[in-house]
Amino acid sequence: MSLPIFPASPEDVPENARVDASPHAGRYLIGGQVRVWQGPSMEVRSPVCVGGERALIGRLPMLDENEGLAALAAARSAWDHGRGTWPTMTVRERIACVERFVARMLPAREEVVRLLMWEIGKTRKDAESEFDRTVVYIRATVEAVKELDRAGGRFQLEEGFVAQIRRSPLGVVLCMGPFNYPLNETFTTLIPALIMGNSIVSKLPRYGGMSHLPLLAAFAESFPAGAVNIVQGDGATLIGPIMTSGDVDCLAFIGSSRVANLLKRQHPRANRLRCITGLEAKNPAIILPDADLEVAVRECVSGALSFNGQRCTAIKLILAHESVADAFAARLAEAVAGLRAGMPWEPGVQLTPLAEENKLATMTALVDDARAAGARVLTGGETRESFFRPAVLYPVTPAMRLYHEEQFGPLVPVARWADDDDLEAFSAASPYGQQVSLFGRDPRRLASLIDVMVNQVCRINLNTQCRRGPDTFPFTGRKDSAEGTLSIGDALRCFSIRTVCATDASAPNKALVTDIVSGHMSAFLTTDFIL
Ligand code: G3H
Repeated sequence: MSLPIFPASPEDVPENARVDASPHAGRYLIGGQVRVWQGPSMEVRSPVCVGGERALIGRLPMLDENEGLAALAAARSAWDHGRGTWPTMTVRERIACVERFVARMLPAREEVVRLLMWEIGKTRKDAESEFDRTVVYIRATVEAVKELDRAGGRFQLEEGFVAQIRRSPLGVVLCMGPFNYPLNETFTTLIPALIMGNSIVSKLPRYGGMSHLPLLAAFAESFPAGAVNIVQGDGATLIGPIMTSGDVDCLAFIGSSRVANLLKRQHPRANRLRCITGLEAKNPAIILPDADLEVAVRECVSGALSFNGQRCTAIKLILAHESVADAFAARLAEAVAGLRAGMPWEPGVQLTPLAEENKLATMTALVDDARAAGARVLTGGETRESFFRPAVLYPVTPAMRLYHEEQFGPLVPVARWADDDDLEAFSAASPYGQQVSLFGRDPRRLASLIDVMVNQVCRINLNTQCRRGPDTFPFTGRKDSAEGTLSIGDALRCFSIRTVCATDASAPNKALVTDIVSGHMSAFLTTDFIL
């Protein structure tokens, strides 16, 4: 078990990990213009401490209410009641803009990766994977849009009507992504919403937002003015007035249900607001008596502690059957103790410092609460600077906060269970319903648990950790965990609405429709096939 060595001075940071965010200072995007904020700002401190204190890597512009409303006005004007350049473009033209954006995004890869390492402490490997996964996601979205367009290109004949049914944009979409995947998870809503013809206001997360700044010019150069607007600052100052204006048609928010509910309540016309959210989760791993413990330990370590446990899909509680719980917990603790801690740029590093300034205190309070109620810390819990060595706690019981609360950090609680009532009690009481991992070998036993769990959560993982990918799979949750379904295909449906153009199939009407189509007079009423 080790604690990481922080750099004592800037010279201790290898050349290929250094970052200079100063060219992006104060930058944001409104109405196709990259603007520079001259008003108040706040320090952006890295989880990486240099010389004993969190390194200063830039300043976050604290845009005021006027700038937030200017971003909204730019998006409204680009939408222009659905008559703007962007929403009326053909799908082919919109795809060309997105492809132009990807080409301009690629050269920024190394800079974005370094910003992710410094701003949120993501390992180089994970930061590279976040960037690359995002590019793959955008390209796959383009293919999915083509497929959707082809499907909508067919005329339907029903009960004497001839009709074409396509998906149309909703209007202005407010996109807010989380700090743990600031680039990827923001883009998994922003890009589908954009390509469907909506205009966007995106507020960058408090931590991790800098990773977007090298891409502002690419947005400005690739899309019509106002189609994408990107702002930074305090959520209450910026977003409150945007929501209370009533001019947001769709909210795409990944974060806490507390903030999501606050934003929704601010909108004066609830019926007009479509919400796509990804919220809290407390995904359990259930270890059955016949589980292969080697597989279970391997998957639970990675599932609970990738990016220090800061994933909505992380395994956040392990329920081990009492017949194997002691052995499982001991092996798990040994594996966790062997994880390598270090700075994000170190090759092979698995654990890194934590970005949120209050995180160590939050983790420590959860550990103290569990210990006070009888749990033992099998490994971990040591701290250095902004680093918290992952702690395995056992046995955790319903009397402890860790049994119920989402820790979103490097804590691995292991609880014991005796019979199915314990599992069902956990599921029934949990306010969350995203995923579960089941570890076992008996097909009948697994089959019966699958059939119970399909009505509690939205993904059941057999002998493997919880995760979002592949990105073509539906990603959602029940109860307080999500609204709407995201995947490469589903996201396009989330950010659009089915729209019909129909007529009775009389000879004059058929001739009319034929004229419109053969004359290529409409972007909607068309049988054009995009290859
Ligand atoms: O934080 C939630 C992410 O959507 C998780 O994605 O399972 O690919 O890490 P992931």
